[in-house]
Amino acid sequence: MNLLSTLSCLPLLIWLSSAGTSATNPLLSTSAKACGLIAQTISTNSAIFLPGSSEYASDVAHFALSAEQNSTCSVEVGTAADLRAIVKILGSTRAPFAVKGGGHNLNPGFSSTSGVQLSMIRFNNIVYHAKSQTVDIGSGLIWDDVYAALDAYNVSVVGGRATGVGVAGLLLGGGYSYKTNQYGLAVDSLTALEVVLPFGEVRTVTERSDPDLFFALRGGGNNFGIVTQFTMRTHAQGTVWGGSITYDGTRGDAVTNALLTYTTNNSDPRTGLQCTYATVSGESIVMVNLFYNGPTPPPGIFDSFLTIPSISTDIGSRSYLSLIQSANTNLTAGVRGLYNTISHTAVTRNLTSAMRNQTNFYSSLLSSSSLLLAGYVVEPFIPSAYLQGKSATAYPPNRLENIHPMNIYYAWTDPAFDDEMLRTSRTSATLLKSVATAEGILGSVLYPNYALVGTSVNDLYGKHTERLRDIKRRFDPLNVMGLTGGFKL
Ligand SMILES: Cc1cc2nc3c(=O)[nH]c(=O)nc-3n(C[C@H](O)[C@H](O)[C@H](O)COP(=O)(O)OP(=O)(O)OC[C@H]3O[C@@H](n4cnc5c(N)ncnc54)[C@H](O)[C@@H]3O)c2cc1C
Ligand SMILES: *[C@@H]1O[C@H](CO)[C@@H](O)[C@H](O)[C@H]1NC(C)=O
Ligand SMILES: *[C@@H]1O[C@H](CO)[C@@H](O)[C@H](O)[C@H]1NC(C)=O
Ligand SMILES: *[C@@H]1O[C@H](CO)[C@@H](O)[C@H](O)[C@H]1NC(C)=O
Ligand SMILES: *[C@@H]1O[C@H](CO)[C@@H](O)[C@H](O)[C@H]1NC(C)=O
Ligand SMILES: *[C@@H]1O[C@H](CO)[C@@H](O)[C@H](O)[C@H]1NC(C)=O
Ligand SMILES: *[C@@H]1O[C@H](CO)[C@@H](O)[C@H](O)[C@H]1NC(C)=O
Repeated sequence: MNLLSTLSCLPLLIWLSSAGTSATNPLLSTSAKACGLIAQTISTNSAIFLPGSSEYASDVAHFALSAEQNSTCSVEVGTAADLRAIVKILGSTRAPFAVKGGGHNLNPGFSSTSGVQLSMIRFNNIVYHAKSQTVDIGSGLIWDDVYAALDAYNVSVVGGRATGVGVAGLLLGGGYSYKTNQYGLAVDSLTALEVVLPFGEVRTVTERSDPDLFFALRGGGNNFGIVTQFTMRTHAQGTVWGGSITYDGTRGDAVTNALLTYTTNNSDPRTGLQCTYATVSGESIVMVNLFYNGPTPPPGIFDSFLTIPSISTDIGSRSYLSLIQSANTNLTAGVRGLYNTISHTAVTRNLTSAMRNQTNFYSSLLSSSSLLLAGYVVEPFIPSAYLQGKSATAYPPNRLENIHPMNIYYAWTDPAFDDEMLRTSRTSATLLKSVATAEGILGSVLYPNYALVGTSVNDLYGKHTERLRDIKRRFDPLNVMGLTGGFKL
């Protein structure tokens, strides 16, 4: 039996008897009531925690401090049956809640709440099925765990490019990978999802069983229920080549030339690339992450990057896990952060010049605003990447359009500048959009996992929006999932 859950239940109930009667904060009393009901309902496979405990602290923790909130209680859910009961309690109390996977979404309220924080951390199973070449992945895992477990079988999946990113959020938003050119988006590898639907039914959703839900869950975010397990197709995985190179900002023109050579000439689906124009503590740099799905790339593809003098280079043949852990994105974990985005369908010199200008312009403008990093990331894909998807997914609405999701990332420390950072990123995205429009390369929709809170769902799903709204109405008529944050249909 689970001692912790029993221990935490008693103080919780005592505390609730006061919080529950608080007439001054109805939201708190609603949440406290839900916490109390959950504590009485869950099995010993799940546990509920209060502020002050180490479990609570890790349940509410996020990559970006600005996306963190202190919830009324946290629940580490252990079974689909418990989750089903919890969803019913949330629906009847109408308590605000949040579902956290890897906690890497940077939008406040998307996986954090002042109400009931659900942590999926106990959904941590990984089962590889050699015969069907699929893997069952618990929805509380991060990609590091998945790559590490599959390594022993010499197989892997299409997933995140950075350490610590959650399987759940990345998949529910679409999922760009180093292997997207070769195998499509991460959602294109999904064969099934186990979901607790908003009206409290546990269901295994496949293309055949529920084509509408299968479409909607692959990119439609947390609008349709809470996922407990993903099943993905695996592929053979050997040693890969790549890593990151950091250049001084003065090499910007040379790196841009190499980038344009790559985007113009490369059609090898085994390649992946990200190029970041950034300012880090006032210093202008350019960073490229290179990837080849094989022990060495054919000559020519990346040579133009490799010959530019760099500040530091960490490139080589390595395991896929080692590759994603090499770019130390954890350096800006635990500070404030935001993502914003525009989409473009090709890379041009004018667009990259504008990105570099934005990096420099805003880092100097924001230099007294505790800014640590302002980065603008180009992520080019080959057109065939999007044609790998065998059936339509919520995102992207048009697979004939070669969307490059540009990522705008600001990291800072002082909460007093939260609003200014949001405003600035919006102004900057608007300017880059106008450049892309002038160049004739503006993409039609934005990538949900890079989009800023407040982005309209129409800007994410385009012509798929109405179908998604219909599916949402059918499966969540009481709008239970509307009690949690995210892009709401
Ligand atoms: C350092 C870093 C690197 C990144 N690298 C990549 C990358 O390579 N490719 C890419 O495409 N994106 C990348 N991203 C973006 C990333 O995909 C999103 O931040 C994503 O939302 C993170 O998922 P998560 O589970 O960690 O986040 P969380 O914040 O835990 O969740 C994100 C959203 O998913 C919902 N959710 C979580 N679990 C469930 C569930 N079980 N059921 C229903 N809804 C759920 C949450 O409610 C929330 O709305 C990166 C982000 C960061 C910060
Ligand atoms: C959450 O509560 C802790 C302990 O009181 C506090 O240190 C922390 O700043 C709070 N976090 C947020 C995001 O309010
Ligand atoms: C994985 O590949 C290595 C190196 O080629 C090999 O030694 C090992 O036997 C393989 N393991 C499995 C389970 O196929
Ligand atoms: C980065 O941080 C996450 C979250 O704490 C952790 O799971 C991961 O192992 C870290 N990665 C590295 C390479 O240290
Ligand atoms: C593409 O490759 C060809 C042949 O190697 C080369 O002449 C051309 O300059 C390259 N294009 C760009 C934009 O670099
Ligand atoms: C790039 O922008 C400049 C103005 O800054 C413009 O004159 C030029 O035509 C643009 N280049 C292309 C290829 O559109
Ligand atoms: C640089 O960016 C600033 C802010 O958006 C803008 O005002 C300026 O015109 C840009 N300069 C160039 C050369 O693009």
